Amino acid sequence: MSLAYEEKPEFVASGSVRVRVPAKINLHLGVGPLRDDGYHDLTTVYQAISLYDDVHAHRSDTLALTIDGEGAGTLPLDDDNLAVRAVRALAAHTGLPAHARLHITKSIPVAGGLAGGSADCAATLVACDALWGTGLSRDELASIAATLGSDIPFLVLGGTALGTGRGEQVNPVLAAGTWHWVVGVAAGGLSTPAVYREIDRLRELGTAPTPAGSADLLLAALRQPDPEVLAAVLVNDLQAAAVSLRPPLRATLRAGLDEGALAALVSGSGPTCLYLARDAEHANALAASLTGRGVCRTVRTAHGPVAGARVTS
Ligand code: C5P
Repeated sequence: MSLAYEEKPEFVASGSVRVRVPAKINLHLGVGPLRDDGYHDLTTVYQAISLYDDVHAHRSDTLALTIDGEGAGTLPLDDDNLAVRAVRALAAHTGLPAHARLHITKSIPVAGGLAGGSADCAATLVACDALWGTGLSRDELASIAATLGSDIPFLVLGGTALGTGRGEQVNPVLAAGTWHWVVGVAAGGLSTPAVYREIDRLRELGTAPTPAGSADLLLAALRQPDPEVLAAVLVNDLQAAAVSLRPPLRATLRAGLDEGALAALVSGSGPTCLYLARDAEHANALAASLTGRGVCRTVRTAHGPVAGARVTS
């Protein structure tokens, strides 16, 4: 597809678009063997939760990025930022100039296993598609997203979805409830490649837990609303690796269970920890107790599933 910049039929009259995008968690993260391309085959169940970043994209004749909130001052503002790469990828796909002024207001913790950078990338694709009037389908945006990172297609989609391949092939799944989470954000991040390398190392040593494998039990637990049923089947193959690289996480997880969480697990590649609560009230009480324990940098509450990257104005 190739349309001139000024010929866009649905060009946004105000010249700016706001997109809200959620964080993701993995309810099941089954990691297969290392592939020849450096990735691992995954069987994962993603859920989008109510922690959000906002991307405000303005019409411009250059490409520029500013950030405030979580990670501002430390995150790259050039091509190392996935949002900038999203503008370039959409421009290359559509034949339009890579022109937009982006401002990201971040509240998703950085390098925390919540896919904050991927979320900004997904939001930027959706924002520039609206700003430029490109009108791509969600599937087309998801296939551009897949070239930029494994979990970005899910953030275009949102909800609850099964992820296969390296995580980029996503299919929505039935989720018959709303689940309430406490999100324990650790001080400092963990590098995703380093956590994957660590699980390979632990497996070679023979000290890693048995791989989670199929997500069938998890998918069955999502077809009913009782959080205790879901709690029993949450699993993350990367947890052992994250704990190996950051041993204090063991106590952080234990603290949540001591305070009455139905389950505690590391989010994605960590170091954020997730605690499942019975309901919203229980989540608030659990968050207050965990804050009092001082085991996390910050403690937040969130519910899921929620929608993926969406234009808000
Ligand atoms: O796809 P993405 O850029 O988010 O992946 C970041 C890194 O995480 C990869 O370079 C790889 O080291 C690791 N990874 C992996 N297997 C996956 C997804 C990610 O090993 N399925």
